[in-house]
Amino acid sequence: MPRDHFVLMHYFIIFFVLLSTSSLATAQQRQSSNISQGSSLTPTKTSSWLSSSGLYAFGFYQRGNGGYAVGVFLAGIPKKTVVWTARRDDPPVSANATLLFTEGRLVLQTAQSGQDTTYIADIAQTASYASMLDTGNFVLYNSDGEILWQSFKYPTDTLLPNQTLSAGMELFSSVSETDQSTGFFRLKMQSDGNLVQYPKDTPDTAPYSYWSATTFGTGDKVTLNLDVDGNLYLLNATSFKLQNLTSGVYKTRGTIFMMRIDSDGVFRLYSHSLGNSSRWSIVWNSTSDRCDPKGLCGLNSFCISNDLAPGCRCLPGFSSANQDNKTSGCERNFTAESCKSKDKKYTLEELENTSWEDVSYSVLSQTSKEDCSQACLVDCNCEAALFKDGVCRKQRLPLRYGRRAGDSYIALIKVEETSESSTDGILPTREGKKEISTNIIIIISCLFVSLILVIVAIFGIILHRYHVSAYRRIPYNGNICFCGDIAPRSFRYAELERMTDQSLQEDQVILEDWVYQCFEGGDLSQLVGIEEVEPKQLERTIKVALWCILDEPSLRPSMKKVLLMLEGTVDIPTPPDPTSFISAI
Ligand SMILES: *[C@@H]1O[C@H](CO)[C@@H](O)[C@H](O)[C@H]1NC(C)=O
Ligand SMILES: *[C@@H]1O[C@H](CO)[C@@H](O)[C@H](O)[C@H]1NC(C)=O
Ligand SMILES: *[C@@H]1O[C@H](CO)[C@@H](O)[C@H](O)[C@H]1NC(C)=O
Ligand SMILES: *[C@@H]1O[C@H](CO)[C@@H](O)[C@H](O)[C@H]1NC(C)=O
Ligand SMILES: *[C@@H]1O[C@H](CO)[C@@H](O)[C@H](O)[C@H]1NC(C)=O
Ligand SMILES: *[C@@H]1O[C@H](CO)[C@@H](O)[C@H](O)[C@H]1NC(C)=O
Repeated sequence: MPRDHFVLMHYFIIFFVLLSTSSLATAQQRQSSNISQGSSLTPTKTSSWLSSSGLYAFGFYQRGNGGYAVGVFLAGIPKKTVVWTARRDDPPVSANATLLFTEGRLVLQTAQSGQDTTYIADIAQTASYASMLDTGNFVLYNSDGEILWQSFKYPTDTLLPNQTLSAGMELFSSVSETDQSTGFFRLKMQSDGNLVQYPKDTPDTAPYSYWSATTFGTGDKVTLNLDVDGNLYLLNATSFKLQNLTSGVYKTRGTIFMMRIDSDGVFRLYSHSLGNSSRWSIVWNSTSDRCDPKGLCGLNSFCISNDLAPGCRCLPGFSSANQDNKTSGCERNFTAESCKSKDKKYTLEELENTSWEDVSYSVLSQTSKEDCSQACLVDCNCEAALFKDGVCRKQRLPLRYGRRAGDSYIALIKVEETSESSTDGILPTREGKKEISTNIIIIISCLFVSLILVIVAIFGIILHRYHVSAYRRIPYNGNICFCGDIAPRSFRYAELERMTDQSLQEDQVILEDWVYQCFEGGDLSQLVGIEEVEPKQLERTIKVALWCILDEPSLRPSMKKVLLMLEGTVDIPTPPDPTSFISAI
């Protein structure tokens, strides 16, 4: 009925008017989010002051290792992301701490008595109000509304849109995603115009840098800028665009950006959709080789990226100093002093295609690798040598900034002859996350294992055929044949053809067993006959094959391990006798 419709519409109009005025009211309430004197925060009650849109917040956040820190974080997205931390290297505070805006200053009180206090911002004048801006900038103003202090001027590891890194300033990586204290890497906007990455605590010189924008000599007031559209670029003092670091336009509606030097030493541009997507995605990397950051691995270890994630490996003869401490690197159990003692014998182990920091104390030119080894062996000061293109560089330990790199040094490492080299697999890097898809590994391992089985089988058949013509025929007596005096069981081709599936299986077992016996007896040359094969490589391959054909899947090595084993960079444990497991099934 028309009348009813009219009433209904009336109600609707009233409803919408009420709705819009109420939302207007809340919006206004939020916008006037000036933080006035006398306001305070505690970690557990009112823990932060929000920006007007609610995207950013300033206040206490929980640190990964317990306790709280004060900083700016993205509060309007599912995963709280810290973008700035006050006094990042101070120990975390307890839940009893209070942050007070009093007497024109921001004071952090960590004890109940209020005795233990620190100031959040270093300001000469007193502030009359503060504000958490929607840009992510936390600002202190004087009574004239002039900016006294702003968090944007003191970046830690992150740049937000409209924030700049000015000449002479640097960003330092965090220890980890959850611990924002100063980590191991830095990104410096140099006053020579160049933007460069170095490890922490190194001079600003080329030998230590691991990335640069190559804008050296473009002016003394060059700045790094990030705009709201996600463009990262360098400007000179007259706002001339010297270089675009990122290429392309990433802006889509409702997307926010941030640039951060991550704990693994790479700096990245991230984007986050404010819509349904709930995570940061990488838009741009300073490098895609995660072994680039110098010192990602500790002393006496080197970085390898033959996997999806980088890993650290100890020098030959070294083992990791502390499995729990990623930065502690590797050490060995003899010292240069014991080198002088007569009853110790040393040898030099080779490590190919690695690059290191060169701090040689003596350089021999026009030598051979053998002479280089010998020169280091007879010199007790020499603990390692780097050899390349006929030049031998003698080194003392520790070796730093190691990484696998094609066409680089051959590192010759002095090791005790008696001690078994104890490279113990892969250590985590400073960042340490492994992002390997286990599915892929399982699939590849299966393929690899099948491949090995096929190779072993084919190779066995060929070998048997070879033996048919080479040896007199030994009648089959049902026993397993051994490697030593008795030649392996041999077949005529016709016999092979007549075999049933079952007997093929049986023969596979015999074949495995024979290979194992040869391996155990140390007589692998039997397996290859007259062919010339590098004995070490052969032994490695056979050992890996024996591991891969074990019936018990859990005992078989992963694809990653297999690659490392074949490469010779990890030791291969002695494989168990395959038959000992068959009997258990
Ligand atoms: C914050 O306070 C200052 C000084 O009292 C005032 O000028 C300014 O308009 C206020 N800002 C907002 C958003 O209310
Ligand atoms: C926090 O307060 C509680 C109760 O007042 C007290 O027992 C505790 O010792 C305080 N902790 C610190 C670290 O001050
Ligand atoms: C900025 O770069 C432009 C182009 O190279 C140059 O003309 C200008 O002088 C530079 N400004 C400064 C302050 O170096
Ligand atoms: C940087 O990119 C912008 C477009 O995003 C382009 O107009 C400009 O020429 C580029 N500048 C340099 C130095 O490559
Ligand atoms: C960043 O680097 C990683 C490897 O570290 C690579 O997988 C990824 O595709 C790169 N992303 C971009 C946008 O270049
Ligand atoms: C890890 O080792 C490094 C270097 O040896 C040392 O500086 C650091 O304090 C250690 N960290 C921990 C948590 O033990």
